[in-house]
Amino acid sequence: MDAIRSSVAAMATFTIKPAAATFSATIEGLDVRDLDGESEAAVMQAMDTYRVLVFRNQDLTPDDQKRFSERFGPLVRVPYVKPLDDHPEVIAVLKEADEVNVSTFGSWWHSDFSYLEEPPTYSILHARELPPVGGDTLFADMIGACEALSPGLRATLDGLKVMHSGHIYGAKLADTGEQGRMRSVEVATGDPDADVERAHPMLRYHRPTGRHALFANPTYTTRFAGMTPDESKGLLDYLYTHATQPRLTWRQVWQPGDLLMWDNRAVLHLAVNDYDGYRRLLHRTTAGSEIPIGTPDQQGTA
Ligand SMILES: [Fe+2]
Repeated sequence: MDAIRSSVAAMATFTIKPAAATFSATIEGLDVRDLDGESEAAVMQAMDTYRVLVFRNQDLTPDDQKRFSERFGPLVRVPYVKPLDDHPEVIAVLKEADEVNVSTFGSWWHSDFSYLEEPPTYSILHARELPPVGGDTLFADMIGACEALSPGLRATLDGLKVMHSGHIYGAKLADTGEQGRMRSVEVATGDPDADVERAHPMLRYHRPTGRHALFANPTYTTRFAGMTPDESKGLLDYLYTHATQPRLTWRQVWQPGDLLMWDNRAVLHLAVNDYDGYRRLLHRTTAGSEIPIGTPDQQGTA
């Protein structure tokens, strides 16, 4: 069966179509269970070029999704979030129809688990159950944002480090005012690995392309290293506004069967919580990890 599948895959052609002029692309005509060496190399090249890929019309079990994800690096088990009982590497990103007026998982701009010493490189989301409207995922191109800075500001940021911590995410979730807490994604606060502050380069070297990305986000970044949060806030807020301006963003409007994959080194994302009254379920895996570096000569796990 496997032999038939790979020979079929070798003959098949699939299309990689840019979804916007700057980043993101859609892949059609490829069953990701059937990747062979050639198609996997094409997908990796597209990943490096476009930073966000949508594979249309996939029908994957959690095991299929894990097998696909492992092609891009070891599966990463993440702190904070309770995974599926039978698949500790898979998180169910779920909001039930009766969870209304609650804050949801991932609804602020972020790069997944950027506060870890080695944040996950790729995140992979598979649509299991979609609301009839809403529930899109937004992306911001942090390589594009870095390259759009003035030479003066870029030189100012070069060599600076920013601190990241999971703690503030827990604090935001706890401080939702009138809103309730989401129920369907179980988030544990007080995880010692999530709550520590870690320094990462403000301008992150993107190993596959040799370009640099802004590496800060309003969910996990607390301040510039060596500065107070108050001192840091003005410039960080400016950078977030700059990075999330419409021309540097792209919106994934989910279709049944979509498998979405992105490079956390190079983009931010957020989930739009605009589908109260409907159930939404996606399965998420994370693959590969590395220590963020500012220049290619710095040490880090490849
Ligand atoms: Fe996320």
